[in-house]
Amino acid sequence: MKSRYEDAKNVFIDSVDVGDYVELESSSIAYDKLKKSLDKPLKMILIFGKPGTGKSILLNRLYNELKYEKEIHYLEIPAADENYFLRCLVAPLTSENVSLDAKINFFGLVNYCKSIRGKREVVFLIDEAQMYNADVLEKIRLLSDTRAVKFVISLHKNENEDLIAKRHFQTRIWEIVELKNASRNELGDYIRKKLLNRDLYEVANTIKDKEVRLIHKITQGNYRDCNKLLYSIFEISEHYDKHEPLKVNYQSMDPKIIEMAALRLGYIHV
Ligand SMILES: Nc1ncnc2c1ncn2[C@@H]1O[C@H](COP(=O)(O)OP(=O)(O)O)[C@@H](O)[C@H]1O
Ligand SMILES: [Mg+2]
Repeated sequence: MKSRYEDAKNVFIDSVDVGDYVELESSSIAYDKLKKSLDKPLKMILIFGKPGTGKSILLNRLYNELKYEKEIHYLEIPAADENYFLRCLVAPLTSENVSLDAKINFFGLVNYCKSIRGKREVVFLIDEAQMYNADVLEKIRLLSDTRAVKFVISLHKNENEDLIAKRHFQTRIWEIVELKNASRNELGDYIRKKLLNRDLYEVANTIKDKEVRLIHKITQGNYRDCNKLLYSIFEISEHYDKHEPLKVNYQSMDPKIIEMAALRLGYIHV
C-alpha cells in the first residue's frame, strides 16, 4: 500500500511553481509592495534577500498575474554574457527575431527605448541579478533612465554582492522589497498550508507547535532549507511506515526523525 508520507514528501520538492504559492503574511506584504511600486514612476525595483527566502516565487507570481495586462517579460535564468542579455531585451521590445550571433548596438537600443517612451511601458523581471557584472548593471540603469522600460531586479544577499549592489544602486531611483526568513508562526503556516492544499489533513495534524519550533530552530525559517528538511523527514517516515510501522507515531511527528533528517542534511552535527 502507498504510504501517506509519500505524498507528503512530494509536497516539499523544492521547486518554484506558482500553483503551489501559499499566502503568508510577509509574502503578501512584499507582493503588494512590489505591485504598488510598479505603478509608481520608479525605474528600478530591487528584490533583496538571502537564498531561499522566496524571491523567485514572488517574481513568478507577479509575472503570472500581470502577463495578460502588461508588457512584462521574465528573465528567469541569467544570460551567459552581455550580448545575450541585450538580445533578451531587444527581442521582446522590437518583436523582431534576433539571430543568435547578432551583435546588439547598445546605443541603438537606448534610442529605440527613447522612441517608445510614453507610448509603451515594458517591464523586465530579472532573477539572479547578482550573476551580472557591473557593466551589465550599468546598462540596465541607462535603459531604465529612458523611462520606457522598468526593471525589477532580484538579488541574493551575501556580503560581497551586497556591496556591489549597494554601491551600484545607492544613488538611483529605486525601491527595495526585502524578503526575510519566516518567523516561527509563518513557518508553521507554510508547512500546514502546503500539506492542506493537497488534502493531507492527517499528516498536517502531526505537526504541532512543538515540532514547528524544532523545525524553525534547525532551518531558521529559510523556506528552501525547510523544504529539504521536510522532504527528508517524510522520506524517513515513509521508510518506517512501509517496513517498521510499529515504530511510527501517527499522532505527532517524532522529534527523533526530525533530528535524523537534519543530521542527514548536515543542518546539525552530533
Ligand atoms: N509564499 C510561498 N508559497 C509557496 N512556496 C514558497 C513561498 N515562499 C517560498 N516558497 C518556496 O520556498 C522555496 C524557496 O523559494 P525561492 O523563491 O526559490 O527563493 P529564492 O529565489 O529567494 O532563493 C521554493 O521552493 C519556493 O517555492
Ligand atoms: Mg531564486
